Amino acid sequence: MEPLNVGIVGLGTVGGAAARILLESADHVARRAGRPVHLRRAVVRDLSKPRAVELPEGVLGTDPAAAVDDPEIDLVVQLIGGTDTARELMLASLAAGKDVVTANKALLAEHGRELFDRARELGRCIAFEAAVAGGIPVIRAVGEAMTANRLTGIEAILNGTSNFILTKMLAERRGYEDVLAEAQRLGYAEADPAMDVDGTDAAQKLILLTELAMGTRVPLDAFPRQGIDHLLLDDLLLAHELGYVVKLLAVTKLANGQLEMHVQPTLVRIDRPLAQCDDAYNMIALDGDAVGRTWYAGAGAGGMATASAVVADVVDVAAGRAKPTFDRLDLWGDIPPLPVQPAEEIERRFYLRFTVEDRPHVFADIADILGRQGISLASIIQHESPEETDDDGPPTVPLVVMTHRTTEGQLRKADEELQNLSSVKPPTVRMPVAD
Ligand code: NAP
Ligand code: HSE
Repeated sequence: MEPLNVGIVGLGTVGGAAARILLESADHVARRAGRPVHLRRAVVRDLSKPRAVELPEGVLGTDPAAAVDDPEIDLVVQLIGGTDTARELMLASLAAGKDVVTANKALLAEHGRELFDRARELGRCIAFEAAVAGGIPVIRAVGEAMTANRLTGIEAILNGTSNFILTKMLAERRGYEDVLAEAQRLGYAEADPAMDVDGTDAAQKLILLTELAMGTRVPLDAFPRQGIDHLLLDDLLLAHELGYVVKLLAVTKLANGQLEMHVQPTLVRIDRPLAQCDDAYNMIALDGDAVGRTWYAGAGAGGMATASAVVADVVDVAAGRAKPTFDRLDLWGDIPPLPVQPAEEIERRFYLRFTVEDRPHVFADIADILGRQGISLASIIQHESPEETDDDGPPTVPLVVMTHRTTEGQLRKADEELQNLSSVKPPTVRMPVAD
């Protein structure tokens, strides 16, 4: 059989692991692909850096053109981050007649439509299983296995770094910065981890899943997005006391012809499957009109886990399965975009934590303001403060209120009034609750 010749651009955490699988499991890969897969080129920026894999003589270089323009290469596996150079390289690879495999969700969330259209125009394909949820085959689930269903809901943990940080902070009472540094050492975080912890990475993945599942492309700024970078251990502990864990939850729901979409730290009841997803694992729950709810879970970040999805895409290209699948993903191209529900109207329960002076009438004032905005209270916790006070006035204590269902809009109006209470000290913490 003719071999499939592969060039990898980017040999970092994911690229290094993908090269290792291609070289060290070459026989297994060839058997699954139905033909040999040869790693012909690998491209990096800095030749002096140590690599996770020893490459055959003459394979490693620094010029992407050596992979993109080599007529012998059939497939470019593009494993660099960022969007500008990555977009140019992908367009050049497609123009040179190559198929492309990538793990770059930032690139696809921003330029996916252009890149997919260009690939189709040129009769090529882009395979991107590794771009969402690392090693979990959720793109295949949505794009292939669930096609009998109209998908109406996605509820997911999509960022391994954030999930790792939330898990370790709570379980080991560790500080945010300390755990983030560990996630970086373990290869979970992006080169710039800001996108992991501010919710952008999870939002990019949600955009891709939503487009595949519901046939509509939603821009990044069209839905609420918050990360875990401002969270305090105190809130994780208080939520736990109430029977919840805090997860960075990415949600799309389709109801009444519009999409409810958000990425936010969210309280998840401790006995729900999503609450059991710890460390750098991801979990995706998909709601289909025929099958009901299905769950997908596994390693959502890290070199070998992500390389598992990358190499599976390489095998699909070699076996001729990738292009027919890619062509079918275009089913939705001419459906008018679905409207996104305004953030102010989204109705959920909420966790509110106030920092209040421990003196008479404080709770009554807060309850009065919330009540006048139609916000009904479900439960309240206030821990005792020390009886002795110092000369600086009454001690402050956390006061946690769980609301019944209400809207962001009602809460915003209540916030405006709460800010005028001298007994309530900033900041007030607000997180939605997933029911
Ligand atoms: P990484 O460790 O930073 O590796 C990036 C690699 O790309 C490095 O080898 C770097 O070269 C090379 N590179 C960057 N710009 C280049 C250029 N202009 N020309 C040639 N080579 C270039 O990143 P990573 O974690 O492997 O992530 C790669 C992609 O996979 C990203 O899009 C990321 O979002 C995605 N992803 C990562 C994970 C994960 O768990 N890490 C999971 C899923 C998806 P040097 O080594 O010489 O610097
Ligand atoms: N940085 C990403 C994460 C890698 O932590 O989930 C997987 O896409």
